[in-house]
Amino acid sequence: MKEQIQNIENQLSSYKFKASEDVEKFRIQFLGSKGQIKGLYALLRDVPNDKKKESGQLINALKQKAESLFEAAKKNQTSSPVNKLKEDLTRPAPDLKLGSHHPLSIIRREIVDVFKKIGFSISEGPEIEDDWHNFSALNFPPEHPARDMQDTFFIEKGENEIALRTHTSSVQVRVMEGSEPPIRTISPGRVYRNEAISARAHCFFHQIEGLYIDEGVSFADLKQTLLFFAQEIFGAKTKIRLRPSYFPFTEPSAEVDVSCTICKSKGCNVCKYTGWLEILGCGMVDPNVLEASGIDSKKYSGFAFGMGVERIAQLKFKVNDLRMYSENDLRFLNQFKSTL
Ligand code: PHE
Repeated sequence: MKEQIQNIENQLSSYKFKASEDVEKFRIQFLGSKGQIKGLYALLRDVPNDKKKESGQLINALKQKAESLFEAAKKNQTSSPVNKLKEDLTRPAPDLKLGSHHPLSIIRREIVDVFKKIGFSISEGPEIEDDWHNFSALNFPPEHPARDMQDTFFIEKGENEIALRTHTSSVQVRVMEGSEPPIRTISPGRVYRNEAISARAHCFFHQIEGLYIDEGVSFADLKQTLLFFAQEIFGAKTKIRLRPSYFPFTEPSAEVDVSCTICKSKGCNVCKYTGWLEILGCGMVDPNVLEASGIDSKKYSGFAFGMGVERIAQLKFKVNDLRMYSENDLRFLNQFKSTL
């Protein structure tokens, strides 16, 4: 009997409370109804009568020791919040996961930087626009298809028409209304069109439009500015070509192609074996548009252009599904980590 008591006594003395669960484990092991000390009391029955008293006292003392150890451990546990933590505070911290720029942000910045170099400022405006800034001031006739529900997301129809802007030309109207020429500005931003989402179209995308108004601005200035832009973005050997086109707010208007950067104009499925890739629309600002914003069209002339950031990103990064840009798939986004 004495041996057993001594054995438990040794266990008590060497017990180490390492984690908060150990306090309860200790209680169960020594003081619980099936614990070791209860077991000793059961054995007391078989102890000869003359030894019963001594053994009983030893077991009582053992029990008291176990109880005071248990109480002390419990107190220690509640008074120190650190002991409640399961985490090992000495462990080294995990690596911080660095994010990366979105491919559209990378391209947007590249384009903006090109135009900043040649003196363009940056202007921004609201994404929710009124009819005047998105359509009327830009010479859109009342029956123009863009004014149809099928192409534009309207918020309010009727007299005070409000819609999500369909292009950032609306920002340029705001700039023309609020400042005097010379004006040289680009307006980057998100635009919305009521299109079914597919690999080649989305209901929102990003544009960068440019506007230059001063005395004597000519089509040659437009062409040279765009050539500079194309060569900065796609490389010094890039050529451009202009094809006649139509926009309500420019006259004459053109669509601009760059020589295919992928096959170097030899012909591939991206340029559909033409050697050329369409990248933007442009033209000389229609005098009606200047007048609508209070600019004297006899004194001033200007050019404007507009491009889709997704289109330029598509060509630079060879991404052929527009939806990738807004799906937030980390497997896609992580590929642009090294491109800053
Ligand atoms: N606003 C036109 C568009 O959204 C682009 C453009 C801008 C064309 C300026 C010509 C001049 O398609």
